[in-house]
Amino acid sequence: MTRQSERRRRAFACQECGYQSSKWMGFCPAPSCNSGSPLVEIELAPARSPRSHWVDDNSTLPQELSRVSEESFPRIQLPSQELNRVLGGGLVAGSVVLLAGEPGVGKSTLLLQVAQSLASSGRKVLYVCGEESAQQIKLRSKRLGFDGQGIFLLGETDLGPMLEKLEEFRPEILMVDSIQTLYSEEVPSGPGSVAQVREAGLQLTRWAKLRHAPILLAGHITKDGSVAGPRVLEHMVDVVAYLESQEFSSYRILRSSKNRFGSTAEVGVFEMTGNGLSDVPDPSRALLSQRQENAVGSALAPVVEGSRPLLLEVQALTSPTQLPAPRRVANGVDHSRMLMIAAVAGRRAGVELAGQDIIVSVAGGFQVSEPAADLAMALAMASSLRNAAISPELVAFGEIGLSGELRTVPQAQRRLDEAARLGFSQCALPEASLEGLAPPDGMKLRPARTLRQMLRAVLEKPDRGLDI
Ligand code: TYD
Ligand code: MG
Repeated sequence: MTRQSERRRRAFACQECGYQSSKWMGFCPAPSCNSGSPLVEIELAPARSPRSHWVDDNSTLPQELSRVSEESFPRIQLPSQELNRVLGGGLVAGSVVLLAGEPGVGKSTLLLQVAQSLASSGRKVLYVCGEESAQQIKLRSKRLGFDGQGIFLLGETDLGPMLEKLEEFRPEILMVDSIQTLYSEEVPSGPGSVAQVREAGLQLTRWAKLRHAPILLAGHITKDGSVAGPRVLEHMVDVVAYLESQEFSSYRILRSSKNRFGSTAEVGVFEMTGNGLSDVPDPSRALLSQRQENAVGSALAPVVEGSRPLLLEVQALTSPTQLPAPRRVANGVDHSRMLMIAAVAGRRAGVELAGQDIIVSVAGGFQVSEPAADLAMALAMASSLRNAAISPELVAFGEIGLSGELRTVPQAQRRLDEAARLGFSQCALPEASLEGLAPPDGMKLRPARTLRQMLRAVLEKPDRGLDI
């Protein structure tokens, strides 16, 4: 070994996004990172061959694509259908899943529930607990109603010895809670730092592929909502799933931002109960059960998340303000989308919102990014401003353009069918969506071309519909 390679290599890294530079550059210059964090000097791990830990005989040789076996990835079905859905149909052998979320959202609970279901089907599960003591995990497992047979706990967070123990113990499934607690002695920065998280991610991914064992990693997120540690961690793992909840809501939504084995459009819905997270197989019905009928400022929007339509309640509250710049608060909808809808409603449909504070919120802690919810948002604002309730029988979908026109959205039929399934009898929609639509029995369609027409029809003549 030359003296050059023995020398420790140094670099400057951003602790938020993982950007690295060999020169000191003051604050992080990466365009995707707005943290404004100063670069911190780090020592890089000595370069080493990727084969230094384990040797896999075949994977390092070139292989012709035509000879690659077509056999699909074997998947382990989990008892939670919501989790299977987000994973793309089950847990793939050898895959690495990063489960990210804020403290207290339920990551450890979900991991332990998965561990329990796998252990009870006879699989050997190893749970690396860097955050909590074995006693704390025991308490949680009692709360979840099982005594922990078949789940082995390991308190080792030093990566080197941990990997050795993995090789000795050979678990069929590995859980790591959390990735930020692991550290490698070969990397001189502290646990949770960019270099450490990257190293741990790299080593664990390699182990999962080599032993065809799935790994579930719990990961913390930063205040701006991304996984703490380098972006490279998100590149390394196969699935990145975020467990989210709105403050004070018992619902938890699992959403994947990356999935090498399935669609990222799928969401899973859970409820945190006294004994763990339970599936919510029919979220529309669960949400509607808490709805107050004839409430002012409330409209229902059938949105489509992945393969599943969901009927969500969009609520708005307007109140006169003395402030020169009225407040605009958006929970569960995009803030700029809400500003746009308020502006269009004001300028094109005569809904005078200029002197009003506006709060828009989606009930149950759900997040809507689809423009299909535009119409419900506008109806909710107008309903609040005019103090007139929207018919409790009505749902509304449609995109709103800048001229106040209603635009068609994809999957109109599925939205309509979901509303009919839940017993609704009227649907407000863009006129352009009528084409090819087969309204279910008992469903009145209330089409309009513009927001102005729609508001007149829905708020002033609430009972007139178009019978088709
Ligand atoms: P936890 O899984 O520890 O969250 P994380 O690992 O993401 O930090 O869950 C924490 C919260 O969940 C805690 O506030 C208690 C609550 N909880 C329940 O309501 N019911 C339960 O059965 C369990 C285990 C936790
Ligand atoms: Mg935890």
